[in-house]
Amino acid sequence: MYWLGIDIGTGGSRALLVDRDGRARFSFTAPHEEMRMEKPLWAEQQPGDWWRAAQQAIAGVLAGAGVNGERIQAVGLSGQMHGLVVLDAAHEVIRPSLIWCDQRSQAQVDAINATVGAGNVLEAIANPVLTGFTLPKLLWVRDHEPAHYDRVRRVLLPKDYVRFRLTGEFASDVSDASGTALFDVVNRRWSQAMCGKLGIPGQWLPKVYESPEVTGRISKLAAAATGLKEGTPVVAGGGDQAASAVGNGIVEPGAVSCTVGTSGVVFAHTESPAYDPRGRVHTFCHAVPGKWHVMGVTQGAGLSLQWFRNRFAPGVEYDALTSEAAESPAGADGLFWLPYLMGERTPHLDASCRAAFVGLTARHRRADLVRAVLEGVSYSLKDCLRIIEEMGVPVESVRLSGGGARSAFWRRMFADVFNRGVATLESQEGSAHGAALLALAGEYGSVNEVCRVAVREVTSLKPEPQAAAFYEKAYATFTTIYPAVKPIHA
Ligand code: XUL
Repeated sequence: MYWLGIDIGTGGSRALLVDRDGRARFSFTAPHEEMRMEKPLWAEQQPGDWWRAAQQAIAGVLAGAGVNGERIQAVGLSGQMHGLVVLDAAHEVIRPSLIWCDQRSQAQVDAINATVGAGNVLEAIANPVLTGFTLPKLLWVRDHEPAHYDRVRRVLLPKDYVRFRLTGEFASDVSDASGTALFDVVNRRWSQAMCGKLGIPGQWLPKVYESPEVTGRISKLAAAATGLKEGTPVVAGGGDQAASAVGNGIVEPGAVSCTVGTSGVVFAHTESPAYDPRGRVHTFCHAVPGKWHVMGVTQGAGLSLQWFRNRFAPGVEYDALTSEAAESPAGADGLFWLPYLMGERTPHLDASCRAAFVGLTARHRRADLVRAVLEGVSYSLKDCLRIIEEMGVPVESVRLSGGGARSAFWRRMFADVFNRGVATLESQEGSAHGAALLALAGEYGSVNEVCRVAVREVTSLKPEPQAAAFYEKAYATFTTIYPAVKPIHA
């Protein structure tokens, strides 16, 4: 018997099977079309493309594993957060999705703060409204595409659109709903205050469940499209970060993870909602029922390296690029990278800031540029970790996951830059694994119990004192660059 996790990422959709012990056994990824960026800081994808990729990923993993759909006990979903999917009365997609890194909605954020009051917003949703969140994107559609807005009857998050195609149900989970700016994170339900003051009809929003709860079953149509069995239960699942945290065993106090995908996230479990008074990290519901988390987000983490590779080293494997970076000395010979390719959330909350190389000389080689990119992303993630620690959230060690954790060179850099022990896990599958574990949790009675059985650390690294001391100073310099260049970007 197997349990299936499906992650609707940015680059692709991944389907993964776990066995009864929660071990990742087979996976298959179907790539998405590249996100469309019609203007700077705009980012769109087609929900129909996610569904196409999800079907391919499910069919692909079943075929690759030689497993019949009858043997899948339950399905869990995870996905990129904050995206806006709007459906009309016929349940057709009205326009492409404005996805998590789309930053066009500053005017709508300002309007929300003016209408509701920034203090009331914080009280209602436990977070400030940010340009990346779903609500200001919906209001952007209202303000710029009234004909589209008039047709809206349903608002969904990316993975929940795929859930709709799988089960016919409109449902979400508390962790993903937390990133909409319409969710009362403290009380784990839609915020009547936000909906009421901004005129968002409650019936547009899906029913919200705790992550391991069953939200529906595979429909006849979806069974025919994917090879799954009609009637297979589908659990609520989680936003990709909360699901990834489950896959990383971040389900009790002291446990912290750092996930380096397209974005980079430092994530800590909390027993009750904990806030940064300046709102620099998000306070969201966890995929563990009745628990919360805080997370800091670097918008352009893996994206920085991907952008550099695609533009300046096309066709070069990531492993080859990081080996090249190892030829450059720590500090990249005085070169710094600010990873703000898509603005930044933690710590600046600034959609208009931009990326930069600072300190270039004619001596610098490509190796130095790659090293500076890796270091700049690491410093930016240290910004996240530092704020979480300043909030008094306990940090015992940091578990690394996501594509960035695959590089031994980058793992060593994280240990030295963070000046903390870092560990990697047997499964590097992140969100898709977490989604599968949420589907399996029913067998164990709790998310914590399934994590206790399924999550195993395989490597751990301690910081090297000399390197850590060097990076401490370099990080101090890094933190002076953003305030210096901010006026230029403005
Ligand atoms: C989290 C976030 C990203 C996206 C894409 O707040 O925006 O992690 O979910 O991965």
